[in-house]
Amino acid sequence: MKPPITAKVPYGGDYNPEQWPEEVWTQDYRLFDAARIDTVTVGVFTWGLTQPAMDVYDFSTLDRIVDRATAEGRRICLATGTGAHPAWLARAYPEVTRTDFEGRKHRYGQRHNSCPSSPVFRELSAGIAGRIAERYAGNPSIVAWHVGNEYGGACYCELCAAAFRDWLRARYGTLERLNVAWYTTFWSHTFGDWDEIEPPSALTEHWRGPNHTAFQGITLDYLRFMSDAMLANFADEKAAIRRHSPDVPVTTNFMGMYRPIDYHRWAPHLDFASWDNYPPDDRSPEWAALSHDLMRGLKDGQPFWLMEQTPSFTACRDVNPLKRPGVMRLWSWQAVAHGADAVLFFQMRAGRGASEKYHGAVIGHSGRDDTRVFREVAELGGELERVGGAVLGARTPARVALLFDWDSWWALELSDGPSRLVRYQQVVLAYYRARWEAGTDVDVVAVTADLSGYDVVVAPALHMLKGDLAERLEAVAARGGSVVTTFLSGRVDEDDNAFLMDVPGPLGPLMGVRIDEWDAREADVVNPVLLKDGPEVASRLVFELVRPVGAEVVGTYQDDFYTGTPAVTRNAFGQGHGWYVAAGLDQEGVTWVVRQVLARHDLAGPYADVPWLESAVRVAPDGTRLAFLLNHNADPVVVNAHAGGTDLLTGDRVERGGPIKLGPRGVLVLRED
Ligand code: GLA
Ligand code: ZN
Repeated sequence: MKPPITAKVPYGGDYNPEQWPEEVWTQDYRLFDAARIDTVTVGVFTWGLTQPAMDVYDFSTLDRIVDRATAEGRRICLATGTGAHPAWLARAYPEVTRTDFEGRKHRYGQRHNSCPSSPVFRELSAGIAGRIAERYAGNPSIVAWHVGNEYGGACYCELCAAAFRDWLRARYGTLERLNVAWYTTFWSHTFGDWDEIEPPSALTEHWRGPNHTAFQGITLDYLRFMSDAMLANFADEKAAIRRHSPDVPVTTNFMGMYRPIDYHRWAPHLDFASWDNYPPDDRSPEWAALSHDLMRGLKDGQPFWLMEQTPSFTACRDVNPLKRPGVMRLWSWQAVAHGADAVLFFQMRAGRGASEKYHGAVIGHSGRDDTRVFREVAELGGELERVGGAVLGARTPARVALLFDWDSWWALELSDGPSRLVRYQQVVLAYYRARWEAGTDVDVVAVTADLSGYDVVVAPALHMLKGDLAERLEAVAARGGSVVTTFLSGRVDEDDNAFLMDVPGPLGPLMGVRIDEWDAREADVVNPVLLKDGPEVASRLVFELVRPVGAEVVGTYQDDFYTGTPAVTRNAFGQGHGWYVAAGLDQEGVTWVVRQVLARHDLAGPYADVPWLESAVRVAPDGTRLAFLLNHNADPVVVNAHAGGTDLLTGDRVERGGPIKLGPRGVLVLRED
């Protein structure tokens, strides 16, 4: 038995050998050796195997899988297997299946299909997790526990309705307080009994779909409740694991910017964060960069695991593009550059049947090692081995924080008015992209994060303003920092009720503006904005009419009855500034504003003006700086090195000021002198 390798980035991924005969496993491990695969995630969908009937347990297959991985010297990320429940369970206890938004009670099928409030599901999922932990906890090859899989969706059954009422009782204490929070005098909704409260669905408060509700407060609370209900499922299993395994870290795989689950509320309950990176297209590396930074921000900047990515293509989309040569490697290093301490794939070998038979895998159906994809995986394995433990535990030295808030996301997108065309992720992404192009490291953090260490705080579409956030943002500016916010910020309190004051609510003093009116137009209507000593850019979707109350005007609308009035302002506050961007500026406009701010704090990176060249820094626990350069171009790029050091991928020396040549989609990991 070989002991697992530890002083390097775990490399491997989801491995489901229960789907094929054992002779194939030998071939699998020969190929894993060839590709330097040292970590396997096993058991993710094995509940049906490990508990084939109510009081029957059968660990024979999982034993063989775990024993084999152990004997082969792999690290094991062992799953509890509860991402899909067994068929017998749904038949014996129909309560475990969900009722959907339309009110349809589901029968057995699919996965991620369990009602989070079902006592039977809660007891049995924790039960199987505990038995697995009990059985395997002593195995030193197990480096992490993987609970469930991609928690998400929602349930609207009677059990959830009852649990929602309990959750509301705990939150509000009295119906009087609930009625105030939900603003129920509107449309005669005053609740006189907790049992009158219904989950907000197509049968109750909604029309058209999940974003169209008569009562934002009710829907918002249901989103919060559902996120908490699934968190309780995770916590059930984690507690069961902890009874047998006190030290091995527990995680579950998140999905980056996934709207239904408030990962900030979950994060304290995970020992480390992990997530599955499936970018919506192959053209926007900033989307993945933002998602990585969001995941790193979940636990105070501690490294996370890239739990899944496809080596080649997905299968679940209508059209599933193939990752071009070099892209899998580039995106893997991008994850590491942003704080990943593991690089894992879905999946190690392609299954033969069902909906993922055409999903990409390290090993395809024919089991070859001479495919392009396998070769690239093996080459990356070699690189990760060469880099060894150099990146492990390294942190991002960011001076800029970008606030990301699920409550604001929900409130903004549930809102009737001003515009359904404003999408939270897109606004956030535009501001993130501006800093991405500038090569400035950023922490993407919750609104509750400590902001006292940042020079710049960017808060796009901060629709809901909670707690003492306004004061903490003021403190950033007061000590010389810059705070940037946008249209539709500072509008509502924690209950989604408007502030009884001028827009932008408690942000008013910091921003030095007052907004009485706003205009929303179709996507093709452009109002040009002329920026002071800058370009004329386009603005779209929402146009707030700004009256400066002390702020200086930085950009003005060029059209309509509000032509000449402010669209961008900057307010001196203490030693610093509050910037307000009152309209949906195009990328050029957003980039211009963000660059002004970064320039004031001298925060643009050394390669700020090289298109599609991403840079990021991590600082190892011993203080060593690691600079990552990622060429997202299909052509080579040559730049002059900002620092001297050693290229960890090749061992070559890099001289400060000397040329760095990055091939198409090339990567440099520079250990600075
Ligand atoms: C998710 C799941 C995996 C698999 C992949 C396919 O991330 O966790 O089980 O379905 O998607 O892309
Ligand atoms: Zn339910």
